[in-house]
Amino acid sequence: MNQLHDTSRVVALVPAAGRGVRLGESMPKAFVPVGGSPMLTLATDGLIASGVVDHIVIAAPAELLDEARILLGHRAEPACPVPVSVVAGGAERTDSVRAGIAAAPQATHFLVHDAARALTPPSMIARVVAELKSGCPAVVPGLPVADTIKSVDADGEVTGTPDRSVLRAIQTPQGFDGQLLRDAYAAGMHATDDAGLVEAFGARVRVIPGDPLAFKITTPLDLRLARTLLAERDTPGRTEIFEQLNTVTR
Ligand code: CTP
Ligand code: MG
Repeated sequence: MNQLHDTSRVVALVPAAGRGVRLGESMPKAFVPVGGSPMLTLATDGLIASGVVDHIVIAAPAELLDEARILLGHRAEPACPVPVSVVAGGAERTDSVRAGIAAAPQATHFLVHDAARALTPPSMIARVVAELKSGCPAVVPGLPVADTIKSVDADGEVTGTPDRSVLRAIQTPQGFDGQLLRDAYAAGMHATDDAGLVEAFGARVRVIPGDPLAFKITTPLDLRLARTLLAERDTPGRTEIFEQLNTVTR
Protein backbone atom coordinates (compact mmCIF):
# COMPACT_ATOMS: atom_id res chain seq x y z
CA MET A 1 0.00 0.00 0.00
CA ASN A 2 1.18 3.54 -0.58
CA GLN A 3 3.03 5.44 2.10
CA LEU A 4 1.75 8.84 3.24
CA HIS A 5 4.08 10.88 1.00
CA ASP A 6 3.49 8.64 -2.01
CA THR A 7 0.77 10.18 -4.18
CA SER A 8 0.93 7.47 -6.85
CA ARG A 9 -2.17 5.46 -7.72
CA VAL A 10 -1.44 2.01 -9.07
CA VAL A 11 -4.47 0.63 -10.92
CA ALA A 12 -4.47 -3.00 -12.05
CA LEU A 13 -6.50 -3.66 -15.20
CA VAL A 14 -7.55 -7.30 -15.51
CA PRO A 15 -8.69 -8.38 -18.99
CA ALA A 16 -11.15 -11.18 -18.23
CA ALA A 17 -13.62 -10.89 -21.12
CA GLY A 18 -12.24 -13.58 -23.42
CA ARG A 19 -14.22 -16.65 -24.52
CA GLY A 20 -11.48 -19.20 -23.88
CA VAL A 21 -11.90 -20.89 -27.26
CA ARG A 22 -8.64 -22.84 -26.95
CA LEU A 23 -9.56 -24.05 -23.46
CA GLY A 24 -12.87 -25.38 -24.77
CA GLU A 25 -14.84 -25.24 -21.50
CA SER A 26 -18.56 -24.46 -21.44
CA MET A 27 -18.12 -21.02 -19.82
CA PRO A 28 -15.88 -18.00 -20.54
CA LYS A 29 -12.35 -18.81 -19.36
CA ALA A 30 -12.11 -16.35 -16.45
CA PHE A 31 -15.07 -18.10 -14.80
CA VAL A 32 -13.55 -21.59 -15.02
CA PRO A 33 -12.65 -22.85 -11.52
CA VAL A 34 -9.12 -23.84 -10.52
CA GLY A 35 -8.87 -25.39 -7.05
CA GLY A 36 -12.47 -24.36 -6.34
CA SER A 37 -12.12 -20.66 -7.28
CA PRO A 38 -12.66 -19.05 -10.68
CA MET A 39 -9.53 -17.72 -12.39
CA LEU A 40 -10.99 -14.21 -12.10
CA THR A 41 -11.07 -14.46 -8.29
CA LEU A 42 -7.60 -16.03 -8.04
CA ALA A 43 -6.03 -13.33 -10.21
CA THR A 44 -7.78 -10.56 -8.22
CA ASP A 45 -6.71 -12.02 -4.87
CA GLY A 46 -3.11 -12.32 -6.10
CA LEU A 47 -3.12 -8.62 -6.98
CA ILE A 48 -4.58 -7.71 -3.56
CA ALA A 49 -2.03 -9.96 -1.78
CA SER A 50 0.85 -8.16 -3.53
CA GLY A 51 0.13 -5.12 -1.33
CA VAL A 52 1.16 -2.72 -4.12
CA VAL A 53 -2.14 -2.13 -5.93
CA ASP A 54 -4.57 0.69 -5.03
CA HIS A 55 -7.52 -0.21 -7.26
CA ILE A 56 -8.47 -3.11 -9.53
CA VAL A 57 -10.61 -2.82 -12.68
CA ILE A 58 -11.89 -6.09 -14.12
CA ALA A 59 -13.04 -6.20 -17.76
CA ALA A 60 -15.62 -9.00 -17.85
CA PRO A 61 -17.91 -10.27 -20.64
CA ALA A 62 -20.75 -7.75 -21.04
CA GLU A 63 -23.44 -10.35 -20.30
CA LEU A 64 -21.70 -11.55 -17.10
CA LEU A 65 -21.10 -8.30 -15.22
CA ASP A 66 -23.49 -9.22 -12.39
CA GLU A 67 -21.97 -12.70 -12.08
CA ALA A 68 -18.48 -11.18 -11.88
CA ARG A 69 -19.59 -8.75 -9.16
CA ILE A 70 -21.19 -11.58 -7.16
CA LEU A 71 -18.02 -13.71 -7.45
CA LEU A 72 -15.87 -10.85 -6.25
CA GLY A 73 -18.26 -10.27 -3.33
CA HIS A 74 -17.05 -7.78 -0.74
CA ARG A 75 -14.03 -6.97 -2.88
CA ALA A 76 -16.38 -5.05 -5.19
CA GLU A 77 -17.72 -2.89 -2.32
CA PRO A 78 -16.50 0.74 -2.36
CA ALA A 79 -15.37 0.30 1.29
CA CYS A 80 -12.94 -2.51 0.43
CA PRO A 81 -9.29 -1.43 1.09
CA VAL A 82 -8.46 -2.29 -2.53
CA PRO A 83 -11.68 -1.40 -4.37
CA VAL A 84 -12.55 -3.64 -7.29
CA SER A 85 -14.64 -2.29 -10.20
CA VAL A 86 -16.14 -4.41 -12.95
CA VAL A 87 -16.60 -2.98 -16.46
CA ALA A 88 -17.69 -4.50 -19.75
CA GLY A 89 -14.84 -5.78 -21.91
CA GLY A 90 -14.86 -5.83 -25.70
CA ALA A 91 -14.42 -8.08 -28.72
CA GLU A 92 -10.59 -7.98 -28.65
CA ARG A 93 -8.27 -7.96 -25.66
CA THR A 94 -7.18 -4.43 -26.57
CA ASP A 95 -10.85 -3.32 -26.41
CA SER A 96 -11.08 -4.77 -22.91
CA VAL A 97 -7.90 -2.99 -21.77
CA ARG A 98 -9.15 0.25 -23.35
CA ALA A 99 -12.39 -0.01 -21.34
CA GLY A 100 -10.33 -0.47 -18.18
CA ILE A 101 -8.13 2.54 -18.92
CA ALA A 102 -11.26 4.69 -19.39
CA ALA A 103 -12.57 3.59 -15.98
CA ALA A 104 -9.41 4.70 -14.14
CA PRO A 105 -8.66 8.38 -14.84
CA GLN A 106 -6.94 8.62 -11.44
CA ALA A 107 -4.20 6.10 -12.28
CA THR A 108 -0.59 7.32 -12.20
CA HIS A 109 0.56 3.78 -13.07
CA PHE A 110 -1.17 0.81 -14.67
CA LEU A 111 -0.62 -2.89 -14.34
CA VAL A 112 -2.26 -4.95 -17.09
CA HIS A 113 -2.69 -8.51 -15.86
CA ASP A 114 -4.42 -11.43 -17.60
CA ALA A 115 -7.07 -13.17 -15.47
CA ALA A 116 -5.80 -16.34 -17.16
CA ARG A 117 -2.46 -16.04 -15.29
CA ALA A 118 -4.33 -17.06 -12.16
CA LEU A 119 -1.37 -18.48 -10.19
CA THR A 120 0.95 -15.47 -10.58
CA PRO A 121 2.97 -15.07 -7.34
CA PRO A 122 2.19 -11.77 -5.53
CA SER A 123 5.95 -11.28 -5.05
CA MET A 124 6.39 -11.01 -8.82
CA ILE A 125 3.62 -8.39 -9.01
CA ALA A 126 5.42 -6.40 -6.30
CA ARG A 127 8.70 -6.59 -8.27
CA VAL A 128 7.04 -5.10 -11.36
CA VAL A 129 5.63 -2.20 -9.34
CA ALA A 130 8.97 -1.59 -7.56
CA GLU A 131 10.69 -1.26 -10.94
CA LEU A 132 7.94 1.09 -12.18
CA LYS A 133 8.22 3.29 -9.11
CA SER A 134 12.00 3.46 -9.52
CA GLY A 135 11.27 5.48 -12.68
CA CYS A 136 11.04 2.85 -15.41
CA PRO A 137 8.12 3.84 -17.73
CA ALA A 138 7.36 0.30 -18.94
CA VAL A 139 8.24 -2.99 -17.20
CA VAL A 140 7.38 -6.54 -18.26
CA PRO A 141 8.26 -9.91 -16.69
CA GLY A 142 9.85 -12.46 -19.01
CA LEU A 143 11.47 -15.89 -18.98
CA PRO A 144 14.22 -17.36 -21.17
CA VAL A 145 12.73 -19.61 -23.84
CA ALA A 146 13.41 -23.35 -23.55
CA ASP A 147 12.71 -24.26 -27.17
CA THR A 148 14.55 -23.09 -30.25
CA ILE A 149 12.33 -20.60 -32.10
CA LYS A 150 12.22 -20.48 -35.89
CA SER A 151 10.49 -18.10 -38.27
CA VAL A 152 8.72 -19.72 -41.20
CA ASP A 153 6.99 -18.60 -44.38
CA ALA A 154 3.47 -19.54 -45.53
CA ASP A 155 4.74 -22.89 -46.92
CA GLY A 156 6.43 -23.86 -43.66
CA GLU A 157 9.92 -23.20 -45.01
CA VAL A 158 12.27 -21.93 -42.30
CA THR A 159 13.31 -18.35 -42.90
CA GLY A 160 15.46 -17.88 -39.81
CA THR A 161 16.56 -19.09 -36.38
CA PRO A 162 17.00 -16.16 -33.96
CA ASP A 163 19.63 -16.46 -31.24
CA ARG A 164 17.66 -18.00 -28.36
CA SER A 165 19.83 -16.38 -25.71
CA VAL A 166 18.37 -12.93 -26.48
CA LEU A 167 14.71 -14.09 -26.56
CA ARG A 168 12.27 -13.83 -23.64
CA ALA A 169 8.72 -15.21 -23.30
CA ILE A 170 6.71 -12.30 -21.88
CA GLN A 171 4.16 -12.63 -19.07
CA THR A 172 1.90 -10.28 -17.13
CA PRO A 173 1.46 -8.10 -15.13
CA GLN A 174 2.93 -5.55 -17.49
CA GLY A 175 3.50 -2.21 -15.78
CA PHE A 176 3.29 1.25 -17.36
CA ASP A 177 3.46 4.90 -16.53
CA GLY A 178 -0.21 5.95 -16.64
CA GLN A 179 0.03 8.65 -19.31
CA LEU A 180 2.30 6.50 -21.49
CA LEU A 181 -0.27 3.70 -21.68
CA ARG A 182 -3.13 6.19 -22.30
CA ASP A 183 -1.15 7.83 -25.12
CA ALA A 184 -0.14 4.47 -26.65
CA TYR A 185 -3.77 3.31 -26.73
CA ALA A 186 -4.95 6.67 -28.09
CA ALA A 187 -2.45 6.36 -30.98
CA GLY A 188 -4.48 3.41 -32.30
CA MET A 189 -1.58 1.11 -33.24
CA HIS A 190 -1.66 -2.68 -33.24
CA ALA A 191 0.44 -5.15 -31.24
CA THR A 192 0.02 -8.56 -29.61
CA ASP A 193 0.62 -7.22 -26.10
CA ASP A 194 0.44 -3.91 -24.28
CA ALA A 195 4.22 -3.51 -24.20
CA GLY A 196 4.18 -3.92 -27.99
CA LEU A 197 1.86 -0.90 -28.26
CA VAL A 198 4.17 1.14 -26.07
CA GLU A 199 7.21 0.03 -28.10
CA ALA A 200 5.45 1.04 -31.32
CA PHE A 201 4.88 4.39 -29.66
CA GLY A 202 8.65 4.74 -29.24
CA ALA A 203 9.00 4.11 -25.49
CA ARG A 204 11.68 1.96 -23.87
CA VAL A 205 10.47 -1.24 -22.20
CA ARG A 206 12.47 -3.15 -19.57
CA VAL A 207 12.20 -6.92 -19.03
CA ILE A 208 12.63 -8.21 -15.46
CA PRO A 209 12.70 -11.90 -14.46
CA GLY A 210 9.29 -13.57 -14.70
CA ASP A 211 8.09 -16.64 -12.81
CA PRO A 212 7.05 -20.07 -14.15
CA LEU A 213 3.91 -19.91 -11.99
CA ALA A 214 2.73 -16.87 -13.97
CA PHE A 215 2.02 -19.14 -16.97
CA LYS A 216 -1.14 -18.36 -18.93
CA ILE A 217 -3.87 -20.99 -18.68
CA THR A 218 -4.64 -21.34 -22.38
CA THR A 219 -5.17 -25.03 -23.22
CA PRO A 220 -6.72 -28.04 -21.40
CA LEU A 221 -3.17 -29.17 -20.53
CA ASP A 222 -2.48 -25.81 -18.83
CA LEU A 223 -5.72 -26.18 -16.83
CA ARG A 224 -4.69 -29.65 -15.65
CA LEU A 225 -1.33 -28.29 -14.57
CA ALA A 226 -2.90 -25.40 -12.64
CA ARG A 227 -5.42 -27.67 -10.92
CA THR A 228 -2.70 -30.16 -10.02
CA LEU A 229 -0.52 -27.43 -8.55
CA LEU A 230 -3.35 -26.15 -6.34
CA ALA A 231 -4.35 -29.69 -5.29
CA GLU A 232 -0.78 -30.64 -4.37
CA ARG A 233 -0.54 -27.50 -2.29
CA ASP A 234 -2.43 -29.35 0.43
CA THR A 235 -0.50 -32.62 0.34
CA PRO A 236 2.07 -33.38 3.08
CA GLY A 237 5.70 -32.85 2.09
CA ARG A 238 4.88 -30.17 -0.46
CA THR A 239 7.78 -28.25 -1.89
CA GLU A 240 8.53 -24.54 -1.81
CA ILE A 241 6.60 -23.96 -5.00
CA PHE A 242 3.37 -24.75 -3.17
CA GLU A 243 4.31 -22.51 -0.27
CA GLN A 244 4.35 -19.68 -2.81
CA LEU A 245 0.91 -20.67 -4.02
CA ASN A 246 -0.50 -20.36 -0.51
CA THR A 247 0.01 -16.62 -0.64
CA VAL A 248 -2.18 -16.44 -3.74
CA THR A 249 -5.10 -18.49 -2.62
CA ARG A 250 -5.38 -18.16 1.14
N1 CTP B 1 -9.40 -11.09 -22.95
C1 CTP B 1 -10.29 -10.03 -22.78
N2 CTP B 1 -11.09 -9.62 -23.83
C2 CTP B 1 -11.02 -10.23 -25.01
C3 CTP B 1 -10.12 -11.32 -25.20
C4 CTP B 1 -9.30 -11.72 -24.15
O1 CTP B 1 -10.38 -9.46 -21.70
N3 CTP B 1 -11.83 -9.83 -25.99
C5 CTP B 1 -8.61 -11.56 -21.81
C6 CTP B 1 -8.86 -13.02 -21.46
O2 CTP B 1 -10.04 -13.11 -20.65
C7 CTP B 1 -7.60 -13.42 -20.76
C8 CTP B 1 -6.54 -12.49 -21.36
O3 CTP B 1 -7.23 -11.49 -22.11
O4 CTP B 1 -7.64 -13.21 -19.35
C9 CTP B 1 -5.58 -13.26 -22.26
O5 CTP B 1 -6.27 -13.75 -23.40
P1 CTP B 1 -6.36 -15.28 -23.84
O6 CTP B 1 -5.52 -16.13 -22.97
O7 CTP B 1 -6.20 -15.32 -25.32
O8 CTP B 1 -7.87 -15.65 -23.41
P2 CTP B 1 -9.13 -15.89 -24.37
O9 CTP B 1 -9.15 -14.86 -25.45
O10 CTP B 1 -10.31 -16.01 -23.49
O11 CTP B 1 -8.77 -17.33 -24.97
P3 CTP B 1 -8.85 -17.81 -26.51
O12 CTP B 1 -7.92 -16.88 -27.28
O13 CTP B 1 -8.39 -19.22 -26.47
O14 CTP B 1 -10.30 -17.66 -26.92
MG1 MG C 1 -7.53 -14.78 -26.91
